[in-house]
Amino acid sequence: MVLLPTILILTIMLGWGFGLFTKIEEESYASETNEEENLIVVGVSQLGSESGWRTANTESVQMAFTKQNGYFMILSNARQKQENQIKAIRNFISQRVDYIVLAPVVESGWETVLQEAKEAEIPVILMDRSVDVADQSLYTALVGTDSVEEGRKAGRWLEEYMIKKRMSDRDINIVVLKGTEGASAQIGRTAGFSIIAGKHNNWHILEQRYADFTIYKGKEVMKDLLKKYKDIDVVVSQNDDMTFGAIEAIRESGRTVGVNGDITIISFDAVHNALEMVADGVINVDIECNPNQGEYISDIIRLLENGQEVEKRYYVEEDVFTMENVTQEVLNGRTY
Ligand code: AHR
Repeated sequence: MVLLPTILILTIMLGWGFGLFTKIEEESYASETNEEENLIVVGVSQLGSESGWRTANTESVQMAFTKQNGYFMILSNARQKQENQIKAIRNFISQRVDYIVLAPVVESGWETVLQEAKEAEIPVILMDRSVDVADQSLYTALVGTDSVEEGRKAGRWLEEYMIKKRMSDRDINIVVLKGTEGASAQIGRTAGFSIIAGKHNNWHILEQRYADFTIYKGKEVMKDLLKKYKDIDVVVSQNDDMTFGAIEAIRESGRTVGVNGDITIISFDAVHNALEMVADGVINVDIECNPNQGEYISDIIRLLENGQEVEKRYYVEEDVFTMENVTQEVLNGRTY
C-alpha cells in the first residue's frame, strides 16, 4: 500500500497527462480527507472509449474498485494508443500501486514494460484482451473473453442458418468488418470465423477490412464495400458499434438487412441497443462479449491478498442471441 497524499498528487498529474475519467478525479478528491486508509491501490489502464461495450467495461471496474469495497483506483484512458498505456503503467509503477489492471489495445509490444512491473513486484492482471508474450510470468492472470471461440460461434451459427434455410449448397458472399488492427479481440474473432469458413468451398470471403470497432468507421468501410461489391449476402461485423454504422450504410444504399432483408447481419457484443435490433429482426445474430469483468478481477485480487493461487485465464460466460432467445426479460436485464 502507498500513502494516499502521494497518490493524490501523482493522480492529478496523470489526469493532466492522460485525461482521467471525471468520476475518478472526484474520487481522488474525496480521498484527500481520508488519508492513510488501508485501501488496496489499483492502477487501471483502459485502452479507450471507442464503443458502448467499452463504456460498460469501464463502468464495471468503477463499480468494483470503490472505496466501500476497500480500493483506491487510479484510472487512465489511453485513447487507443499503446504508448499512452505504457506511460500509464510506468506511472503506476513509480507510484508503487499494489496491482495493475491492463486492457491492452494491441497484442504485441508489451515485454519491456511488463518486465518493469514484474521487477517492481506489482502483479499485472489483464482485462478483456490478451497480450502476445513468450514469458507468461509477465502477467499474473487474464480475465476476458475467448475471442477465437466467439469467431467460431459466428461461423457455426451461419452453418446452421444455411442448413435451416435449405441453402447450405448455395454460394454466399461475405464481407468482414474487423476491429482494431493488432487487437486480440479482432485477431481471435477473425481466426475463429475463418476456421469455420475454411470448411465451406461455397463461402466466399470477398474482403476483410479494419473498421476500428467504431460506428463511424463501420459506416465508412461498409459504404466502400457496397460500392465495390454488388452481391454481398452476409456481413460479419466484429462489434455492435461497427454494425450500427454498417446498417446505416446498407439502408442508405437501398438494400435491406436482417431476417426479412437481403443482407444477413452477424454482430458481436450484444449491447442493449443491438439486442433490441435482434428482437426486431434487423440483426440476425449477436455473439455476446461480456464486459462485466471488474468484479471477477476484484475476486482475483482478494485471492492474491490472501496468498492464494489463481488460475492464469478466466473467461467470462457468453451467449449467442437470435430473435428466438432475446426475451423481454433478457432486454430488461441488460444494463449496457
Ligand atoms: O475487446 C472487446 C471489443 O472491444 C468489443 O467487442 C468492442 O466493442 C470493444 O471496443
